[in-house]
Amino acid sequence: MNRRASKIFRRGGRPQAASGLVELTEGLEHARGLDRAARTLSTAVRRALPKGPVKDVLHGVPAGHPAHPPLTDLPMGAWISVAVLDLLPGTRRAAQVLVGAGLAGAVPTALTGLADWSALHREQQRVGLVHAMGTTTATLLYSASLVARTRGYDGAGKGLGYAGLGALMVGGYLGGHLAFRQAAGASHADQVAHLVPLGWHDLCSVDELPDGWPVQRRLGYISLFVLRTGDDVHVLADRCSHLAGPLHQGRVITDDNADLCVVCPWHGSTFRVDDGSVVHGPATGRQPAFESRVLEDGTVQVRPAS
Ligand code: FES
Repeated sequence: MNRRASKIFRRGGRPQAASGLVELTEGLEHARGLDRAARTLSTAVRRALPKGPVKDVLHGVPAGHPAHPPLTDLPMGAWISVAVLDLLPGTRRAAQVLVGAGLAGAVPTALTGLADWSALHREQQRVGLVHAMGTTTATLLYSASLVARTRGYDGAGKGLGYAGLGALMVGGYLGGHLAFRQAAGASHADQVAHLVPLGWHDLCSVDELPDGWPVQRRLGYISLFVLRTGDDVHVLADRCSHLAGPLHQGRVITDDNADLCVVCPWHGSTFRVDDGSVVHGPATGRQPAFESRVLEDGTVQVRPAS
């Protein structure tokens, strides 16, 4: 029995070696040497893009998900097409137009990426910085490619284009790591809807809830943001959909429509407490909301809002 337990422990305790590429990318997450540049750039981005409607659009708040990932299709699609056209005869003009179209698409792509990147954790910013270096290098190489093509140096234009494609692939790979390994851009609260059984659940006594002051309560292993205002009890998932910040530590404010909102203490995402809708990013995903009721004996019950 003991021998078996020890064997299991050894298996679990020594992780398999990751591939060189994965190790290299994971190493970037811990590359402190990138921090100074990341700090300088994120400060500059926050100054240039203050909170407000423009920044919300760049984050993708109106779309309900980040705007950056779908926009990357513009330059990537155009430039991958160029790589194919450059292998075919009689496509000089079409390739030239697509290089320019990719450059035009790179502008909103970069702006949305910068806005999102400026509100990430340090490990995400390190990877994001190298991701941006790759895509910026690609953009510079395609710019040079366009100049060469318009001056009639087609061979040089094609060579610069393929070099740009290589840099773009490096940037794209790191973008995938950011999105899927480090979960930048994904909602960090959506799973709550799958973790709470249907129906009403006892949460706490209404007497425990201070008026106008948010507190944290647990429903099973889920953490909830609970705010009582007079006879009303507003309940949201506590982990912010942006990067899981604790909403119960946030400020309660009223927005321009006089709706009661909570501002996340980490990056300032603002949610209406009634329904969890996003007022300001960087969060783009609605905060899961719960219906509540107070029984005659003062028990507060909640259930996931339908
Ligand atoms: S965790 Fe970033 S705004 Fe809440």
